[in-house]
Amino acid sequence: MSLLSQFLELPNDSKTKTVIVALALCLVCSIAVSYAAVALKPVQDVNKLLDKKRNILQIGGLMQPGKSVEELFQQVEAKVVDLQTGAYVEGIDPNTFDARSAAVDPKQNLVLTKEQDIASIKRRAKYATVYLVKDPQGQLQKIILPVSGYGLWSTMHGFLALQADANTVLGLGFYEHAETPGLGGEIDNPDWKAEWQGKQLFDASGDVALSVVKGAATEGDKAAYQVDAISGATLTSNGVNNLVKFWMGADGFGAYLQKIRDGGGV
Ligand SMILES: Cc1cc2nc3c(=O)[nH]c(=O)nc-3n(C[C@H](O)[C@H](O)[C@H](O)COP(=O)(O)O)c2cc1C
Repeated sequence: MSLLSQFLELPNDSKTKTVIVALALCLVCSIAVSYAAVALKPVQDVNKLLDKKRNILQIGGLMQPGKSVEELFQQVEAKVVDLQTGAYVEGIDPNTFDARSAAVDPKQNLVLTKEQDIASIKRRAKYATVYLVKDPQGQLQKIILPVSGYGLWSTMHGFLALQADANTVLGLGFYEHAETPGLGGEIDNPDWKAEWQGKQLFDASGDVALSVVKGAATEGDKAAYQVDAISGATLTSNGVNNLVKFWMGADGFGAYLQKIRDGGGV
């Protein structure tokens, strides 16, 4: 008698039969889940890229009803920047360069000292992809920069969009974070995001002056440099403040933005 017939002849309430059926079911399910994960990976990657492009367009104020993300993204030029020098890097495809993977690769990253690491990211890639929007005459219109930093619970990943003066903020938005909905999660609130529009990054001496503070000034000299913190979410607000300070400063895009403000770098 074969093993299969021996198994089938066992009574349905036998412990051996129950365990074997449960194990077989687990095996079938895990094969199905693994197959789905592997088979759907390319679709997930395409959707992730599409989502990133949608975010870049939204934060840069480039969305238009009735037009697809791919169509609109044609006006965006991606370039890889060496953060130390602020110069563009030739020979690296900006469409495939992944700064988040590079940040954990010892050959491609810079481990930040405690003093440097105000955004609590520990290490950053040596290069970053920037997104430029130009008018038909080739004049720079918008600069969209990736930013990241630790909030209360999570590393928040987003983009900061600037006008061509490399100083005036067009928008700040996050496409990935795990802050508490209704508290830190209010960084996604359109009203809060709107507060960033028109703010100035650098003061007259070229230092990063833009800050997230409780009870930000609405009038006077400071109003252009202050965004009101989210109430009940001071720690997330501090995280956003720190990531802006880091990425717009000397250890982030400082050298690159200086080049643009000096009239070059485009
Ligand atoms: C369950 C829970 C979730 C919280 N989530 C956040 C959060 O996402 N971001 C944040 O800054 N504070 C969060 N807080 C509140 C902080 O612990 C802290 O009280 C707050 O940042 C202080 O902000 P305030 O000075 O504006 O009141 C949370 C608190 C609790 C109990």
